[in-house]
Amino acid sequence: MERTLIKDLRSKIDQTVELKGWLQVLRDQKKIQFLILRDPTGAAQVAHWKPNNEALAEEIAKLGTESALTITGKVIDNPVVKLNGLEIQLESLIVDNNAESPLPFDPFAETLPTIDYRQDWRYMDLRRPVNNLFFQVETLVELAMREYWTKNNFIEIHTPKLVGAPSESGAELFSLDYFERKAYLAQSPQFYKQMAMASGFERIFEIGPVFRADPSFTSRHMTEFTGVDMEMSWIDSHEDVMASEEQWLNYVYTRVKEQFGDAIKEQFGVDLVIPTLPFPRIPMKEAVEILKSRGWVPADKKGDIDPAGERDIAAYVKEKYNHDFVFLTDWPIGVRPFYHMRKPEDETLTRSFDLIACGLEITTGAQREHRVEVLQKQATEKGLHFEPIQFYLDFFRYGCPPHGGFGLGLARLMMVMLGVGNIRESVFLFRGPTRLIP
Ligand code: 4AD
Ligand code: MG
Repeated sequence: MERTLIKDLRSKIDQTVELKGWLQVLRDQKKIQFLILRDPTGAAQVAHWKPNNEALAEEIAKLGTESALTITGKVIDNPVVKLNGLEIQLESLIVDNNAESPLPFDPFAETLPTIDYRQDWRYMDLRRPVNNLFFQVETLVELAMREYWTKNNFIEIHTPKLVGAPSESGAELFSLDYFERKAYLAQSPQFYKQMAMASGFERIFEIGPVFRADPSFTSRHMTEFTGVDMEMSWIDSHEDVMASEEQWLNYVYTRVKEQFGDAIKEQFGVDLVIPTLPFPRIPMKEAVEILKSRGWVPADKKGDIDPAGERDIAAYVKEKYNHDFVFLTDWPIGVRPFYHMRKPEDETLTRSFDLIACGLEITTGAQREHRVEVLQKQATEKGLHFEPIQFYLDFFRYGCPPHGGFGLGLARLMMVMLGVGNIRESVFLFRGPTRLIP
């Protein structure tokens, strides 16, 4: 018999069907046993009249909740049943995998254990429908990203994660033994996506792993995450990159709302708002003034803003423009990497931006410096030696168009989209300074 999904039961009234799923609840009464069976599409009530088959009744009585089962039975229309007004009259049962008891924790208990404990048993945690939906949405998010980009002539690339030189801060670098020498885990595809511009690809994207040896314990940092990166050629400034990103995000949100808007409202309590175009843009100098006028105290003198500042500028933008997204632009050179292009009209500022969504940084982007002499000068100013990055500097010696791009953290976008407070709940398996298992 072919498996029927629980969502399709209504079309099978009075037929015998085969269901596969998990035993969520077992109620063993005197004459009758009720089994609530769950599959990724829903839950159904299965009833077994014990006198019909005493041996089977005994087997069922021993089942642990969350066992994996295959069940056959007849679908009965019964308005009295709370679950979809349907009941399955049990005919036979196969225990594919019994669940030991007690469970590490009951994913359906009213109060759940701490997030750290749930990480130890992540597969139990992921059995909750809200988590299943999370990854269905994430799948569509990635599909929609690729749809937008492929429609707009972007090429997808896969760049090495084993690298010989850091591309971002040397402080957040994982190093490892690589035969007779040292290698590093890529902190960003930055250099290679720029190489694609020197390769004449003009527009590229990559969705792949990124590693950061960041020792901090926050609700938004991981040591390994999925980076969503793009790079495009022949731009006039970072404005072209922002315009491209906002259209792309608008498309992604539109696709998600179409397909999952109702389910997201039901499971996450979030009424998904498709961000309107254009997103507000605020130069950093102005953002810092706005923040100061609201009582925010800068943590450093370099012109950066901290997470509290990010939240406050988001609150300002929400009040003033009723928008959840804001591009903070024109960051000072002191807080930007050497490869960001400087503004010709003010060399202390870069042609760069961060995208803040609901108070969280989800993207950093910029126009890159493609003139090799200027790039070398900026590298020297940042104290970098040419030798380890000579291959990178060479990209700009044989015909490389002006270009720019951005990097976005997938898990951070998902947090913002679905209103998830902690990045650990926003990724299949979390990696942090003290978390390597499972
Ligand atoms: O801001 P970041 O460090 O920028 C870059 O990597 C540049 N190469 C991007 C560019 O094209 N100019 O990282 C990009 C994004 C951040 O905005 C954030 O969303 C995410 O990656 N991110 C992290 N996500 C989870 N855990 C971490 N430790 C993250 N660090 C950055
Ligand atoms: Mg950043």
